[in-house]
Amino acid sequence: HEGMYTREELKELVAYCAERGIEVIPEIDVPGHNEALAAAYPEFFCFPDHNTKVSTTGGVGLYLVCPQKPEVWKFYAAVFKELKDIFPSKIVHLGGDEAPTELWEKCPLCRQARAKASMRDEQEQMRDFFARMTSLLAKNGQTPQFWYEGNAGIYHPGETVYAWRQDQARQSIDKTKKAGLNLIMASNEYCYLDFPQIQGQYNWGWMQTTTLRKCYELDPAFGKSPQETGHIRGVHAAAWAEHLPDLNHLLYRVYPRAMAIAEAGWSPMNVRSWDNFRRKVADHRAFVLKRFNYDLERTKENEPPFRWENKK
Ligand code: ACM
Ligand code: ZN
Repeated sequence: HEGMYTREELKELVAYCAERGIEVIPEIDVPGHNEALAAAYPEFFCFPDHNTKVSTTGGVGLYLVCPQKPEVWKFYAAVFKELKDIFPSKIVHLGGDEAPTELWEKCPLCRQARAKASMRDEQEQMRDFFARMTSLLAKNGQTPQFWYEGNAGIYHPGETVYAWRQDQARQSIDKTKKAGLNLIMASNEYCYLDFPQIQGQYNWGWMQTTTLRKCYELDPAFGKSPQETGHIRGVHAAAWAEHLPDLNHLLYRVYPRAMAIAEAGWSPMNVRSWDNFRRKVADHRAFVLKRFNYDLERTKENEPPFRWENKK
């Protein structure tokens, strides 16, 4: 609904990160989270709506691109090619999360395609859709990653998915192992850094308070044995920007919790110590505040409830 990066700005960001040993992985979420696409290209969707409005808050929409429209595939082929030119990473995160299939179920073209391919349901169609997206990426030497949605059957062995849904990590570890998938741990009750970190901070009516200590307690293996968790590749922290009004506020939410998630990623449970970690955070505090030119007073002014509309 607002804001964009130019190709040059993105290249500058990628170069800045590369100098610091950071690989930037772009995400193009398919087939859902696509309201802006639906407003720009209504013809890509099962039931084109030329009055689509892009919402200014987070949430789950019903718009999924229609896999039966050839222009959709032409569009993504062009997008992935352009990404390749900007991001040297071999990985493209394809999202795949929060994609309710109601409209695929009703769409005459989708129905016909499912019948023709003897697909039992829309989940089989999702599996086929991901496979086609993966082939498109492969033409540029790119491979996909996905948000894990609980049905391991829609992904393909060898692929990497992120466990993100609250309180589903344990079962996700087991199901992804059985399906031959790699897993990155991003369980939101530990790893979502746009959530409030202190009791009383604004939470949009639904976010759990996620204290520094809670983040530090993340065990990426959730107590399971090395045999059960050899497919876990690492940890991931998320900071969803629609909940954060500006860069200062983003830093306020991300630090110091990002340090806790990083330590969860690189230190086995038997060497973890909350007291030791607290000492390290205290040492880093001044550095972080200064390095990011981070203004605690301004952060208070920006404490939600803000709305994007009111900022203009
Ligand atoms: C997600 O938070 N929808 C991955
Ligand atoms: Zn359709």
